[in-house]
Amino acid sequence: MDKVEEVKQNALQEIEQANDVATLEAIKVKYFGKKGELTALLKMMGTLSAEEKPKFGAIVNSAKEEVSEVLNKKMDAFAKAEMDKKLQTEKIDVTLPGSKIIRGSKHPLTRVIEEIEDLFVSMGYDVVAGPELETDEYCFERLNLPKGHPARDMQDSFYITPEYLLRTQTSAVQARAMMANKEKTPLRIIVPGKTYRREDDATHSHQFNQVEGLVVDKNISFADLKGTLEIFMKHMLGEDTKLRFRPSYFPFTEPSYEVDVSCFKCGGKGCNLCKHTGWIELLGAGIVHPNVLSMNGYDPNEYSGFAFGTGLDRLAMFKYGITDIRLLYENDVRFLKQFDRKDD
Ligand code: DAH
Repeated sequence: MDKVEEVKQNALQEIEQANDVATLEAIKVKYFGKKGELTALLKMMGTLSAEEKPKFGAIVNSAKEEVSEVLNKKMDAFAKAEMDKKLQTEKIDVTLPGSKIIRGSKHPLTRVIEEIEDLFVSMGYDVVAGPELETDEYCFERLNLPKGHPARDMQDSFYITPEYLLRTQTSAVQARAMMANKEKTPLRIIVPGKTYRREDDATHSHQFNQVEGLVVDKNISFADLKGTLEIFMKHMLGEDTKLRFRPSYFPFTEPSYEVDVSCFKCGGKGCNLCKHTGWIELLGAGIVHPNVLSMNGYDPNEYSGFAFGTGLDRLAMFKYGITDIRLLYENDVRFLKQFDRKDD
């Protein structure tokens, strides 16, 4: 029992003298650990008589309790002091201005896409997406381009299998949207998205972006197409922009047009950008072919429509004076930084 008292006093003294949490932890191990001194005392019980055992046990336990209480109190005091210190030193002045995060800038293509989406949504259009890995059926067949049609040669394609390809045109989503509209109600959609063709030079990238437009309703005429494209192009390139419709051929429209815009660099007088013609070819468009309507579930006697498609890369290049399409895909921050705008 003297031994118990001695161990207890030693422990209490050491605790008293401890100045930090680490020392207290060490004391804890020294007395309460598996091989600790107070633990060892309990092990001595085996050598005692049945009578002595409970008495001794009680004394050891009360010594343990006393030591552990003092120890824990001091631990708590240290922890609190540490927390107080932390709160003092790490105090945050919430009234200070925040540290500045360097802002990125929107990619010129994103800018153009958002501008087009805003415009068309304001005219009641839906923005629709479709798969980039497309079937031959939707990319061509349902657009009046059966297998073997010569117009397929205009679009050098990446075929994955004979049935699947990377879509060459967002026009594929025309068919998807018409087919998906089970009630065959009027449609007004634009489809911005990535397209792919086997070409690669300063003005062609194997991957580029288009926006497709499609309106299907009753009594849609060329006047609707013309008015819509005029609003579209004036909005993108300036109020003075003029449009010129030239007869052309696309299998999914009849009649079809190539649409030119007056050169926004020289105003139509002729310069290097417009190759001295005063005009820049920018869109394909036309009145939806009756075959396309009926193949995708619309009665051509009841409905008519117009469609158009344009390359967004070209539009962004014209708008921002970019001379090489590949710059749009190199992710060079020095290039992208030039499109930083405070008003985003
Ligand atoms: N899909 C055509 C292309 O990539 C562009 C086009 C032309 C889209 C006429 C249309 C259209 O919707 O009516 O060359």
